[in-house]
Parts: sequence; structure tokens; C-alpha cells
Amino acid sequence: MLDEKGWTFAANVSDVSARSFKAAYPKGVPIILFVRGDGAFALSNRCPHLGCPLSGGSMKGDTIVCPCHDWSFDIRTGELTMSKEVKLAKFESKIDDGKIFVKLED
Ligand code: FES
Repeated sequence: MLDEKGWTFAANVSDVSARSFKAAYPKGVPIILFVRGDGAFALSNRCPHLGCPLSGGSMKGDTIVCPCHDWSFDIRTGELTMSKEVKLAKFESKIDDGKIFVKLED
């Protein structure tokens, strides 16, 4: 599902836990989705260290911890908590009518 402004359907809000995350593959792109409050956040599901899928990791507050070597990332910014210069790719996202949409390209 893609509208004329480039938004791609990623998941239903009801499928994403308010304390956890959901892996999704809009247009085949591996992402992880978070819903906090009224907003959604979408990050790459590939760790920038050695590429492990973060969806195998765990949550610690508002960070997700990579299952391979324990790097942790802020879910709101994608920044590595110990060095903000390292970032997960972050995708613009929005919630509309109970659905999460992402922009995969600029
Ligand atoms: S692959 Fe994620 S911390 Fe090493």
C-alpha cells in the first residue's frame, strides 16, 4: 500500500506492543517499528556494527539492545547510546487511522 506522497504501509498500530517492537518488511526493507504515546518510530533492522538483526534483541527502556554484541540504540533517534555519531537508519513515520506508514526514500 503506497499513497501518492510516498508513504508505505508498514503495520497496524494494534500489532505493535507499547513496550516492545515489531519487525516489518515494507517493500522488502527490513525495519523495526516502535509505538510510544501517539507516535511511531521506524529504524533499520540491521545493526551498523556487523549487521545483526536488531529484532532478535531486547528492550531496555527506550533503547533496543543488539543481540550480537550488546550495542544499544535510542529508539527515537536511532543513535548508539555510547556514541551519538553512530546511528541506525531512521525512517520518517506516521500513524493514520490505526496504521503505521513509513517513507523509505526521500
Ligand atoms: S552486530 Fe550489533 S552490536 Fe555487533
